[in-house]
Amino acid sequence: MPAHDLATEPTLVGELVELRPFTGADAPRMAQILSDPEVRRLTGSVDTSAEAEQAQPVDDHLVRWYTTRAEQPDRLDLALVDRATGVVQGEVVLNEYDDDGRVANLRCLVGPDGRDRGLGTEAVRLVCDYALEVAGLERLTLEVFEFNPRARRVYEKVGFVQTGTRLEALVFDGVAVAAVDMELTRRSGSAASR
Ligand SMILES: CC(C)(COP(=O)(O)OP(=O)(O)OC[C@H]1O[C@@H](n2cnc3c(N)ncnc32)[C@H](O)[C@@H]1OP(=O)(O)O)[C@@H](O)C(=O)NCCC(=O)NCCS
Repeated sequence: MPAHDLATEPTLVGELVELRPFTGADAPRMAQILSDPEVRRLTGSVDTSAEAEQAQPVDDHLVRWYTTRAEQPDRLDLALVDRATGVVQGEVVLNEYDDDGRVANLRCLVGPDGRDRGLGTEAVRLVCDYALEVAGLERLTLEVFEFNPRARRVYEKVGFVQTGTRLEALVFDGVAVAAVDMELTRRSGSAASR
């Protein structure tokens, strides 16, 4: 028996959002979201403003990526759906699972139409509760760049605490950008109770 269960693909329903497994049919919508310059810059996916302005194509790689997410045994990729409209507005991901310590990395991104409406906070809370209370993980970690105070605020609301700082986590447009490392442990209690 593995120490964790990231192979099961749950559907997690909150007040504002539903998190559900991806299918290949989500690729065109995710390409729109992944083309957003702010998403590209704040997730550290690009190193320059010029790259941030480039669109994410709906190519074979992207379709295969979303088609195969639900088959992955050691990570969890869930589409973030706005329940009010049924439209996918982003994704939450648990990746980089390490059996030593039962720890995984958390990523979350919300496209421009979905931001600043509480969707990201609820999505992070839902996936953290699931990871720590159902899937058997002990600890979740993440990295947030210093030029992203909104994301940091969301993670702090859910209960993540700072564990370190890296001064040159990214070089963007030739300028070093620091990042804060954060973690949430099972022992610190459920995200829903905060
Ligand atoms: C970060 C992200 C996931 C947050 O999701 P969201 O749905 O936009 O966030 P919410 O609406 O749930 O909450 C935003 C919170 O940040 C606060 N906030 C917004 N802008 C802020 C800023 N510039 N500085 C500090 N706090 C800010 C809001 O007031 C709100 O807090 P509150 O509920 O206490 O008022 C989303 O904005 C996103 O994906 N952004 C682009 C990509 C990204 O940054 N991904 C994360 C990489 S680590």
